[in-house]
Amino acid sequence: MADKTPERLEWAAATLAPGPADHILEVGCGHGVLLSLLAERLTTGTITAIDRSDKMVAAARARNAGHIASGKIAIRQAELASADFSGKTFDRILAVNVNVFWLKPARELAALRRLIDAEGKLFLFFEPPSPAQAEPIAEKLAANLEANGFRVAHKTFIVLGSAQGVCIVANPA
Ligand SMILES: C[S@@+](CC[C@H](N)C(=O)[O-])C[C@H]1O[C@@H](n2cnc3c(N)ncnc32)[C@H](O)[C@@H]1O
Repeated sequence: MADKTPERLEWAAATLAPGPADHILEVGCGHGVLLSLLAERLTTGTITAIDRSDKMVAAARARNAGHIASGKIAIRQAELASADFSGKTFDRILAVNVNVFWLKPARELAALRRLIDAEGKLFLFFEPPSPAQAEPIAEKLAANLEANGFRVAHKTFIVLGSAQGVCIVANPA
């Protein structure tokens, strides 16, 4: 039986709502489940994904082999702070449950500031282990973004089963 898609990833795809020609970067793609959901929404658009784990990159590539073959998705093993994107920039950048953004993300946010288009949007999604952590994590995320070249546009909280989801949307300042 096929695995059920986690609710947070369905929510992330619906919230990102990319246009068909958007160029998207996902940081920390894990098994690549969200990549598959987003690829269905694109026509001429593309998705680039990175993960620092070789194991996750292999799993994400296997899951998305068809879209990789057609050129819609590219997945690479890389650490965000030191990744080289050869001058490519993105309309939409997202990460789901990548903890560095609410911890000490100065280097990572500096990298994203260079990678995001002037009119681009950054989406950071979290599903904290306990619902009580949602508000403090959102506060830390917002403060980190504002201190590192982004302007927070929206903060959203959503109930995901017994958990709570947080999404912060930011624009380059
Ligand atoms: C908790 S998992 C979430 C995976 C996926 N986004 C999801 O929600 O199912 C975090 C992933 O981000 C990757 N990661 C964490 N920090 C990273 C960084 N600085 N650069 C690239 N990948 C990173 C990890 O290797 C891991 O696969």
